[in-house]
Amino acid sequence: MFENLKAQPADKILALMQAYKEDPRDTKIDLGVGVYKNAEGVTPVMRAIKAAEKRLWEEETTKSYVALAGDPAFSDALIALVLGDAVERANVAAAATPGGTGAVRHAFEMARMANPDVRVFVSDPTWPNHLSILKFMGLPTISYRYFDNATGAVNFEGMLEDLSQAKKGDLVLLHGCCHNPSGANLNLTQWQAVVDLLLKTGATPMIDIAYQGFGDGLEDDAAGTRLVASSIPECLIAASCSKNFGVYRERTGLLMAVSQDASARKLNQGTLAYLNRQNFSFPPDHGARLVTMVLTDEDLRADWAAELEDVRKGMLDLREQLASELQRLSGSDRFGFIAQHRGMFSRLGCSPEQVETLRADHGIYMVGDSRLNIAGLNKTTVPILAKAIIDSGI
Ligand code: LMR
Repeated sequence: MFENLKAQPADKILALMQAYKEDPRDTKIDLGVGVYKNAEGVTPVMRAIKAAEKRLWEEETTKSYVALAGDPAFSDALIALVLGDAVERANVAAAATPGGTGAVRHAFEMARMANPDVRVFVSDPTWPNHLSILKFMGLPTISYRYFDNATGAVNFEGMLEDLSQAKKGDLVLLHGCCHNPSGANLNLTQWQAVVDLLLKTGATPMIDIAYQGFGDGLEDDAAGTRLVASSIPECLIAASCSKNFGVYRERTGLLMAVSQDASARKLNQGTLAYLNRQNFSFPPDHGARLVTMVLTDEDLRADWAAELEDVRKGMLDLREQLASELQRLSGSDRFGFIAQHRGMFSRLGCSPEQVETLRADHGIYMVGDSRLNIAGLNKTTVPILAKAIIDSGI
């Protein structure tokens, strides 16, 4: 039977990760997969997570099942982190999922259950796995203009023009902050314009928020998501804890469905639990429990927020360094957008051939669309990258 299988295309980001591992050059620089690394190239376990883990080991008395939608305390804590007091807790249905990707997949499933003809509007570009999952599910996608390679900024007019084609029953996928892969984000005035347009079209927003705290801070990074959740009758929000809590391999995410009233919430809650049961039954608990412990303990939370803030500022410093080094070498401001972008990624806007030259000639690994992971750099490698960019004619 299995001889009938067709080979599937490798995920570009994960294939790059593998190619980097296999490269014997000791000067190689990994700017590929979206994993935070400190100046020593290490992805640390955050201090508060480590402390929570120790406490959990001492206190946990059972590994029995928790609940289909995960521990309600995790939902409460993460809803509060993402949504603040933008909406009534009673109107939010939520289920823990294996990572943010699990939440994304469920959100698409839920939209299709509600409307078998759903069309999903996705930014051009978007995280490649959004497209891959949508293709796998056979859902029609419509891309809307988002990133302008020429300016390194959002093509906001184009975005609004394309989104005006959406209609009731469509899903519009937005990145809550730190847009992946471009690094270019909406300001709050632009979020408001998107909200107004969505209200006009009747389309349902879905927000993927995977980098809260990596851009302008925990509160600012959630501002657009909160605006959407408080202004539009219904929305879906897929949140990931992989990056901001550094619990990548624990697969810790939450899907939230925000509605207008408690009876809609009940239906949504049942649907989310059903989706968990059909796909994997109970969601992973370990990472969710650690995150809950950190968010509900004053000292752990303060320490986590401080460490996250250091991570964020470190990435901002690297952005500024890289932009100014490129300005010095190129004698122009054309790379100024790198300092304006937020989060882990920036898209350089160069060709796949130039990305390949950087890899082949300089051992610099970035995703083929010219997305670079800022956190893969340090003070020593910034000038090396800047020189390689200029030497490659970018
Ligand atoms: C990325 O975009 O590199 C991360 O979200 C990791 C992944 O799974 O692709």
